[in-house]
Amino acid sequence: MRKLIAAMKTSVDAKVEGPEGVADWVEAWSDDYDLTPQVDACLLGAGMYPGYAQYWTPIRNEPDKPHPLTGQPPTAAEIEWSRFAAKTPHYVLSTTMKSALWPNTSFLRGLDDVLALKQRPGKDIYLIGGARTTANLIDAGLVDELRLIVYPLIAGEGKALFATTERRRGLEPRKVEELPDGRLSLIYGIG
Ligand SMILES: NC(=O)c1ccc[n+]([C@@H]2O[C@H](COP(=O)([O-])OP(=O)(O)OC[C@H]3O[C@@H](n4cnc5c(N)ncnc54)[C@H](OP(=O)(O)O)[C@@H]3O)[C@@H](O)[C@H]2O)c1
Repeated sequence: MRKLIAAMKTSVDAKVEGPEGVADWVEAWSDDYDLTPQVDACLLGAGMYPGYAQYWTPIRNEPDKPHPLTGQPPTAAEIEWSRFAAKTPHYVLSTTMKSALWPNTSFLRGLDDVLALKQRPGKDIYLIGGARTTANLIDAGLVDELRLIVYPLIAGEGKALFATTERRRGLEPRKVEELPDGRLSLIYGIG
């Protein structure tokens, strides 16, 4: 069965966004988890999907221009991700959403659909977020690996990755790596 790999950027207090709804301590949203070679599908929760599509659409359409949300030009790695993402099927987990801005997007309506996606042939699946979806799918035993990039920051107020987690779960440490600027890359297997 294909692996479902969750990968997110958090503060030391496991916040994935600040009070304004963005993780403003993250300078770029490219794939920093080395996942692109091994995945051919992306899974996202309905909460994060609109912001995701809004962020990546201008980078895909006008990579040479400053980003309308940040005022900064996209990085080379962001342009690379937008190209990869444009050709890679995206699945949004939602009971309510009916239309999507990003190309190549379809909807999954519940946990059974996520299991069915994992059972289809293919490479691994990148679970991009957000917090509730990742917590929910880990609780359901559907996530095989967790990759975190932890920023050297106590964010305080904001959305915590595991705020809605219901079950205790042991993790199998696989790799710890120190990244530039004091960030840590942590990879755990989930049994
Ligand atoms: N720091 C990072 O690396 C990172 C990465 C990604 C996202 N984020 C942040 O995460 C935030 C979004 O997280 P979030 O927790 O608010 O929302 P979310 O996890 O993106 O989406 C939650 C929604 O997903 C759907 N869902 C979840 N589990 C489901 C299930 N079992 N069956 C059917 N639908 C299910 C539901 O949609 P319906 O209500 O439509 O049913 C639910 O309301 C974003 O604002 C973004 O800033 C951060």
